[in-house]
Amino acid sequence: MPKPYYITTAIDYTNGAPHIGHAYEKVLADAMARFQRLAGNEAYFLTGVDQHGQKVQQTAEKAGVPPREYVREVTDKFLALWERLGVRADGWVETIDPRHTRIVQDLLQQLYDSGQLYKKTTSGFYSNRQEQYLSDKDRNEAGEFGPEWGEVVQLEEENWYFRLSDHVPWLRGFLEATPDFVFPPNRMTQLLNAVNGSEGMDLCISRPKSRLTWGIELPFDSDFVTYVWFDALTNYISFAGYRDASPETSGLPSFDRLWPCDAHVIGKDILIPAHGIYWPIMLHACGFTDDQMPKLVVHGWWNVRGEKMSKSLGNVVNPNDIADVIGTDGLRYFLLSEITTGQDSDMSDERVLFRYNKELADILGNLLNRTLNMARKYLGGVLRHTAFDSPAQVALREKVASLPGAAMEHMKTWQIHRVLADCLDTARQANEFIDHTSPFKLAKDPAQADQVASIMGHVMEALAHLSVLLSPAIPAAAAKIQTQLGWTPPAGFTLQDLQWGLLPDGHTLGEPQPLFPKVLLPPPV
Ligand code: MSP
Repeated sequence: MPKPYYITTAIDYTNGAPHIGHAYEKVLADAMARFQRLAGNEAYFLTGVDQHGQKVQQTAEKAGVPPREYVREVTDKFLALWERLGVRADGWVETIDPRHTRIVQDLLQQLYDSGQLYKKTTSGFYSNRQEQYLSDKDRNEAGEFGPEWGEVVQLEEENWYFRLSDHVPWLRGFLEATPDFVFPPNRMTQLLNAVNGSEGMDLCISRPKSRLTWGIELPFDSDFVTYVWFDALTNYISFAGYRDASPETSGLPSFDRLWPCDAHVIGKDILIPAHGIYWPIMLHACGFTDDQMPKLVVHGWWNVRGEKMSKSLGNVVNPNDIADVIGTDGLRYFLLSEITTGQDSDMSDERVLFRYNKELADILGNLLNRTLNMARKYLGGVLRHTAFDSPAQVALREKVASLPGAAMEHMKTWQIHRVLADCLDTARQANEFIDHTSPFKLAKDPAQADQVASIMGHVMEALAHLSVLLSPAIPAAAAKIQTQLGWTPPAGFTLQDLQWGLLPDGHTLGEPQPLFPKVLLPPPV
């Protein structure tokens, strides 16, 4: 049996409420997992939250609550949002989980035992925001540490270091031999440049408890907790059943079946150094072979009205506010149609309204609603297969038949926006087919009854196909389309089953209901 398609996202910091960037990444990964299942593959989707670290400790202190209580509150906000948006994960990460702690400590102990860790005192600059030491390479052209580092303080302290530099030659060779380690390809070029500049750089993997207690203790030195990234990256294996001490009861998947990860879906800011350098080196240093290295899918960032989203600019978009206006599938559709996977995109209320009103409401919703109403009027809501055919019918069937193959092709590089564009084009074509064939005029002449039935049948059949192809992106709306068509795909239905003739002769259609009611007020972007 082939291994499941294993897909993860970054785990979100619990030092604030979820924003639109978090929502995009989770919706993208969710749609990718759903698409794999639709293609007939088994999929395992892991996501969750990153609960440790100095930022969380500081925010909890400011809020006057213990960190454990604070992260619970924020974690619940993330969970509620994923539930609302239909982000359906198979596994859920919370880094305070004791099983995760055990694996992180196991790896640290293994590195310690194999002589890959050493202790030294350094003095240097430290970015509180990024929770890392800075070097001169991190200074900008003016020779300063730019605003992206937040507050930078000078520290002198003793810490534990990981001999990362010992593995840099291996990493360079691995990357050169494995161009598909990172998608999109231009990110590989950036990564290779960064690797070439990281010679002689070891990684500080501890933080003294004198300034950070909210973390996982080093198993061999109780004065320290581990660096939050060492903790966080390990989630991809610790929640995937790695060294599972109680596989019968843990509820975790079988690591041997699942690993390596087929897609770590992450934003561009956490490729270098975390996922592109630290993570493969951590795995390699712990004995993972080149064949056991995961793959990275790096997405771009959402800007808001041309500016970077930031608390200081006050333009952070809350996904709940948008979903309140255009619904959860309206939001999912916007996030997946408006961005090319791998590139940046921009949000504004105009773009949100355009995608919702002009595409979902005017094209897809309207097609379903007008055709169902006509079918009730002219056919009593029951489809009738007839021998009538014409080039317009043939063209619609050909367009529909091309969709599954095209979707498979687009999804090889996770271009779900192209799948959506093809679906919307098909709905547009079906609307034009109705306009040109004018069943509302033909219905007045009983001699044209076969042609009317054929037109209705073609559009309903096309909508059944569209409901399946759209289901990874907008699952709730797809299910509503199916209810209105009076048709649900049988269990185990895959893209290969998407053949003309889903709705049989004599099929009874469901009730028309507005699918995407028009929105007049702009959403708060
Ligand atoms: N906790 C770390 C990740 C650890 S993974 C082992 C982290 N958390 S985060 O909350 O800051 O970011 C989570 C994800 O959201 C990252 O992949 C990040 O790139 C993504 N995004 C944050 N802002 C974003 C946008 N404005 N647009 C799109 N994605 C963005 O980093």
